[in-house]
Amino acid sequence: MISAPILDTRFRLTETVALDLAKSYGTPLYVVDEKHFRERIRTYLTAFRAAYDRSEISFASKANSTLALVKIAYEEGCTIDVASEGELRIALAAGVPGNKCHLHGNNKQVEELQFALDNSIGHIVADSFDEIELLDGILSNEQRASTKIVLRLAPGVDPVTHAKISTGQADTKFGFNIADGSAERAAQRCLELGFNLYGFHCHVGSQLLDPEAQRSGGELIAKFAVDMKDKHGYIAQYLNVGGGLGVAYTSGDQPMGMHEYCRLVVQAVNTALEGTGIDPILGQEPGRSLTAESGVTLYRVGVIKTVPSKALGQRTYVAVDGGLSDNPRPALYGSKYTVERVAPETQSSDELKNMTVSGKHCETDKLFDETPLPADLKVGDLIQVLCTGAYNSSMASNYNRYPRPATALLRLDGSHSLIQRRDSWDEMLAREILPEDLA
Ligand SMILES: Cc1ncc(COP(=O)(O)O)c(C=O)c1O
Repeated sequence: MISAPILDTRFRLTETVALDLAKSYGTPLYVVDEKHFRERIRTYLTAFRAAYDRSEISFASKANSTLALVKIAYEEGCTIDVASEGELRIALAAGVPGNKCHLHGNNKQVEELQFALDNSIGHIVADSFDEIELLDGILSNEQRASTKIVLRLAPGVDPVTHAKISTGQADTKFGFNIADGSAERAAQRCLELGFNLYGFHCHVGSQLLDPEAQRSGGELIAKFAVDMKDKHGYIAQYLNVGGGLGVAYTSGDQPMGMHEYCRLVVQAVNTALEGTGIDPILGQEPGRSLTAESGVTLYRVGVIKTVPSKALGQRTYVAVDGGLSDNPRPALYGSKYTVERVAPETQSSDELKNMTVSGKHCETDKLFDETPLPADLKVGDLIQVLCTGAYNSSMASNYNRYPRPATALLRLDGSHSLIQRRDSWDEMLAREILPEDLA
């Protein structure tokens, strides 16, 4: 048997449902379980509320910005974190009011800010001095008073995670450095310009299995808030410690439970704020930990090929009908996943053999390198890759002109709905323009 984390909280499909979904929508197919997703949100909300009364959770929609999931997150009581005009448009289309969204981005365009302001954005997370001056130029007097501005801070902590999803260190494109005085100057500038400075934010990184960086990020922004009160009499009404809680991609990943995690982060913030008279709303904006484990990707096994390998003696490649374009994470971050054959629940445990699952793309892609699969895996079998509900559909591309997969949502009543259809060939051609002389 494939080993699983001690407490395996990941959603997986039964054979009956997987066969039905593959028949209804084809493969590759993203599948998200509504019940699982709602329960993840409820657990996080309960955990955070238990640790801190005035808490707020924003769903980081970059993790999975399908309309349906954004709407479910809102229904469950989350506000929505958007990092672009496109994500804001999705939230609005899902029926989320603009004032229940907040806008991130390290290089926001004037049009993006204007669109957010026109839609009464809940708050803007300002990321640079240029952005502060840009806002000064475009805020009307009324907007200056009503638009909440939050400053993103770089607390200077190095999380234990992949370098490409590590953002809290000093050498980062995001936010204002605390240690070199930039954060204080940014706060002073906002106050000087008469902005409605709402508070401070930090996001130290993603897929954090070791929560120390998050704890210390929370502590540092809370201490910064105290510093601003002491030096400038400014009282922050809001602190946001970002997202980042990790999930179990493989049996080796042992993420901290949501209750323990929230307690730890809140304790760090509370300790710093104790006795200061600062009593902010405390926010978190998780993405991955809310959706990743609720989703799987279904692939159909195609070519199986065993080749000589210097490293292994022999390697068996199992080609599936997707790859880099529907899951770029292995290529981007060297991410590992749990891959399982879809098989009858009654089937006795398979004899396993390491195989390399590859995609259809024109690189030597090892989508899932040397992963245990049943030795008798054959062409036409279905496999499911666990924990693909976050940063998969939202990061998909049309590379090699493959249509991006559809997403099916398993409903609470056991039915399923298509929530994002597969790209069509017409869509693939819709943006193309052949100049007249080439026609
Ligand atoms: C500013 C910000 N907030 C929240 C998140 C969500 O992080 P996660 O999905 O790890 O919870 C990210 C991820 O990149 C982020 O950059």
